[in-house]
Amino acid sequence: MADHIGTLVIFGAGGDLTKRLLLPGLGQLLGSSRGYDLKLIGVGFDPMTDAEWRERVVASFAAGGPVSSRSAAVAKTSVYLQADVTKPADLEHILAAATGTPALYFALPPHVTILSIAALEKVGLPKGTVLGLEKPFGTDLRSAQALNRQLVKLLPEKHIHRVDHFLGKSTVLNLLGLRFANRIFEQVWSAEHIERVDIVFDETLGLEGRAGYYDKAGALVDMIQSHLLLVMALAAMEPPSSLDADDLRGSMAQVLRATHAWKGNPVAAGRRARYTGGTIDGRKLPAYVKESGVHPELDTETLAEVTVGIENWRWAGVPFRLRSGKAISDKRQQIVVTFKDVPHRPYGFTGNPGPARLTISLSPDSIELDLNINGEDDPFTLDRVSLDVEFAKGELGPYGEVLHGILSDDATLSVRADAVEECWRIVAPILSAWRKGEVPIDNYRAGSAGPTAWK
Ligand code: BG6
Repeated sequence: MADHIGTLVIFGAGGDLTKRLLLPGLGQLLGSSRGYDLKLIGVGFDPMTDAEWRERVVASFAAGGPVSSRSAAVAKTSVYLQADVTKPADLEHILAAATGTPALYFALPPHVTILSIAALEKVGLPKGTVLGLEKPFGTDLRSAQALNRQLVKLLPEKHIHRVDHFLGKSTVLNLLGLRFANRIFEQVWSAEHIERVDIVFDETLGLEGRAGYYDKAGALVDMIQSHLLLVMALAAMEPPSSLDADDLRGSMAQVLRATHAWKGNPVAAGRRARYTGGTIDGRKLPAYVKESGVHPELDTETLAEVTVGIENWRWAGVPFRLRSGKAISDKRQQIVVTFKDVPHRPYGFTGNPGPARLTISLSPDSIELDLNINGEDDPFTLDRVSLDVEFAKGELGPYGEVLHGILSDDATLSVRADAVEECWRIVAPILSAWRKGEVPIDNYRAGSAGPTAWK
C-alpha cells in the first residue's frame, strides 16, 4: 500500500498552506516509520527556479521537525513547474513529469480547483491517480453536489481524498479507541444517560490576513460545516465493524443523515457574533470589520454557535452544541459529554457538585473524567474529583496523517462525498436564516470569552 504513489504533485506550491502545513507534514511523514520514497513536484502560477523551490521545501521540512535522510533526498530531487493548472496542455506537461502513479494535491482556492478539475477531464488521468482536495468543498449544497458529480467523472470515489485535517488530529482519533475499545463507555453512550454534548473549538487567533477566504465563509462554514460536524459524527456514530474506509465513513454518514437544526428551528438553533477591537495574548487586534480586505456589509461572523439534534433511537432529545470562535481569550478546544444526574441520590448526602462529565480535549491532548466522590473530611459530603490523563503527541501531526492517507491511498481519514453534502444540508437552513438577517449579529471584544449576553 505505502508504495502506491510514485509522485506527489502539489498544486499551489507557492501558497501559505503548502509552506505552513503541507510540507512540514510531509517532512514528518517521510522521516517516520511510515515514510516512503517519493518524487515531489511543486506546481505554481508564479515563476520560481528549482533551487528556490528546494530551499523552501528544506525550510518547511525543518519546520515540521528533525530532517531525515529520506526527506533530505526528496527535497534534493524535487522540481518546480510553473503552470496554469486550468489549462489542459499545462496539465499534460505536469502529468508527463511524474514518475509512477501520481497523487495530485489541490492546495488552491476552490474556484481554481473547480476549473482545474474541468480541465483534467479533457486530459484524463493515469490509472490509479489519487486526488487530495482541500476544504471548502463547494460553497453550498448545490455547488458541493456539482463538484462531486464532476469528480466522479474523472476517477472513482475511493481515490478522491477530501481533506479535513481534524480527522488527522490524534485526539480526534482517540475518540475511536475510547469509545470502541472500552466496554464501560458504550453502555452509557446514549440519550438514556447523556444530557448534552458540547463540541467547542475557540481560538485565540484572529483573522491572520485571511480576509479573501474567511470573509465569505465565516465561522459557521469555516469550522462547523466542516470540522466540528465531522468530530460530532465520530462522537455519535454507531460502532463500525472495522476501521476501514467503507465501514468508518458509512457510520459517519449515517449519523450525519439523521442530524438537523435543533427542534427543526434554524433561527433558534444558532447564535452568531463578531469581534471588536481588543488585546489578546499581549497582541492588539483591530475590530474584525477594520481588518484589511473585510467587507462589513457581508455581516460575517467570527463566532458561531449551533445546536443540532440527531434524530435516531440513540440520540433523540440530546442537544449537540457546536461552537467555534476567533480571538477568544480562553483557547477551549474540547468535546464535553455531560451525563444525566443519578435517578436518586441517597438521603443523607450533602452537596451536589453536578453530574459526571467526560472532557476530551484537543489542545492539550487529554481526557478528563469528573466524578463525584465522598468528601475528604466528612464522608457524607460529596466532592468533585477529576481523573485525567495527558497524551503524548502522535508520531505525526494532522497533515502528516492526512498525507499518509493520500500516499497510501487509504481513504479512511478523508471525507466521503455524501458526508460533505450532508454537512452542507445540515447548516443550509441556519446559514440562510443568518444571511437573511433573521438572527442578529452580536459583538464581543477580541480577547474576551464572547458576548457578555451569551453567558
Ligand atoms: C482551518 C480553518 O481549517 O482550521 C482555520 O480554516 C482554523 O480558520 C484552523 O484556524 C484550526 O485548525 P488548527 O489545527 O490549525 O488548530
